[in-house]
Amino acid sequence: MRTNYNGELTKQNLGQDVVLYGWVNKIRKLGGLIFIDLRDISGISQVVVRPEKDFYNTTESITNESVIEVKGKVILRENPNPKIKTGEIEIDATSIKLLSKSEALPIDKNSNDEIKLKYRYLDLRREELQSIFKTKSKVLSIVRNYLNDNNFIECETPILCKSTPEGARDYLVPSRIFKGEFYALPQSPQILKQLLMVAGMDRYYQIAKCFRDEDLRADRQPEFTQIDIETSFLEQDELLTIMEGMYKKIFKEILNVELKIPFERIKWDDAIKDYGSDKPDTRFDLKLIHLTDLFNGIDSPLFKDKYSIAIKVNDSSNYFSRKKIEELTEFIKKHSGDNLLYVKKSDDSYSGSIIKLLNEDILSNLNMSNSDILFITTKSNYVKACNAMGSLRSRVASELDLIDKNIYDFKWIVEFPLFELNEEGEITSSHHPFTRPLKEHEKYLLADPLKVYSYSYDLVAFGYELGGGSLRIYEEDIQEKVFSILKISKEDQRNKFGYLLDAMKYGFPPHGGLAFGLERTMMVLTGTDNIRDVILFPKTTTAQDLMLDCPSNVDEAQLKDLGLKISL
Ligand code: AMO
Repeated sequence: MRTNYNGELTKQNLGQDVVLYGWVNKIRKLGGLIFIDLRDISGISQVVVRPEKDFYNTTESITNESVIEVKGKVILRENPNPKIKTGEIEIDATSIKLLSKSEALPIDKNSNDEIKLKYRYLDLRREELQSIFKTKSKVLSIVRNYLNDNNFIECETPILCKSTPEGARDYLVPSRIFKGEFYALPQSPQILKQLLMVAGMDRYYQIAKCFRDEDLRADRQPEFTQIDIETSFLEQDELLTIMEGMYKKIFKEILNVELKIPFERIKWDDAIKDYGSDKPDTRFDLKLIHLTDLFNGIDSPLFKDKYSIAIKVNDSSNYFSRKKIEELTEFIKKHSGDNLLYVKKSDDSYSGSIIKLLNEDILSNLNMSNSDILFITTKSNYVKACNAMGSLRSRVASELDLIDKNIYDFKWIVEFPLFELNEEGEITSSHHPFTRPLKEHEKYLLADPLKVYSYSYDLVAFGYELGGGSLRIYEEDIQEKVFSILKISKEDQRNKFGYLLDAMKYGFPPHGGLAFGLERTMMVLTGTDNIRDVILFPKTTTAQDLMLDCPSNVDEAQLKDLGLKISL
């Protein structure tokens, strides 16, 4: 029977007989002695095997990563290793048993991502990865304790479900019994948690698996986990205060970082105006400069009927060579900017792509110092112009190393517009159709819906949207209006959300909630910018699991059972 974990033995254990298990991290021979670094989840202990032992020869042939049992006595090490906790002791082996031999591993830390994902269970042996998942487990326990202490009830909602209103593509599961019909995996438990408010649960939470078939990015996976919350009878600020407490606790207990509460509240309008993003990274300044009024008088198609949005980067005009500016021009075009214009000032004179268009008066209004560079983009859509410059703002900050990594810039972005226009110019919900409009904006609903803002909020840090939600509509007449603005027909309303509409008739409490991405929270906690690092078995950017080798074909018989035929 195991007496100790390898990583916990210290001088306190001197003289004890121990039984240890683990993997051979490294085996080497030195001056006739065999040394084994024995590893388990807690760390490493050094085992020494002397030449006179009858198991000396068999030990010699044990390969790295084999699993062994070691019996022995804890003794003082001749050459201590101050870098590890067990560095002052070693185990003088009295028996070594090979339990499972390992072949040479197909991966090492320099292998490419594909091969690492195929052998993820081996990659997970790395200490950095194990430490991330130990932290994730602690985070979940802090979350559960905090929410339980605040009278939240942990609930489970079904995975075989009906389409939810988050707006991504669904993962569908065919029904065997009702051929031609499908379940949808939940994109979130949105409607179900609202129904739990009708059921009187008052404060709901779930560590909820969500599934979305959408284009993947460095902070997006098709399958992810939300810390999902819904509450009844709370004002927006009461709810946000409870949630701030949870994040404060997580960051204190995991990183010993004191988050300052209350978190700053930035209205969506201001986030777009100042940072060109609804998830601004505020660990550096570099706010957007609005030059539309100043440039409107210039007689050039570049500025006519367009918004001119800029950033001014100090002390850096040398860094931005012609080649670099070309690169940034490509970048901003990819982020829907029409162009990238610039003005440089050095030795009290100006240069740049639009210098011929700018008179003395305009130049002096730009308030530039020597070595400054001003980047400008123009576009007829205000939000897109700001977004494009916001993307450039982040890129420039990371290239020039302007980000202060010691700042934890938690803030709420609040009051999003209730609606937005999609590419086709149609009105759609910014969040989902159950988001409650601001009381004072209800009057604009039918007359001028784009003027209506909502009780909505996103938690943002490090430029990531960590979570978001809203207060919900609980009045039937307002819900009706929103559906009519979204042109959702009565039939569609019934098909998609009939059960929620029915529930509205039976005592629907004022309620609201939000959901946090567990993985994004982990990304901020561990400082990684790749979501795959914080998921045990992640998928590739094409949503494949290389280890399980799926998606994959299924038997003809299974398809027949489900009444399905593949036509490619
Ligand atoms: P939303 O769609 O904003 O809201 O999602 C909430 C949070 O979930 C995380 N998230 C993701 N994380 C990883 N990969 C993804 N593909 C992914 N998509 C979302 C983000 C995001 O902030 N039902 C509403 C919440 C509510 O209104 O209560 C919802 O799902 O961190």
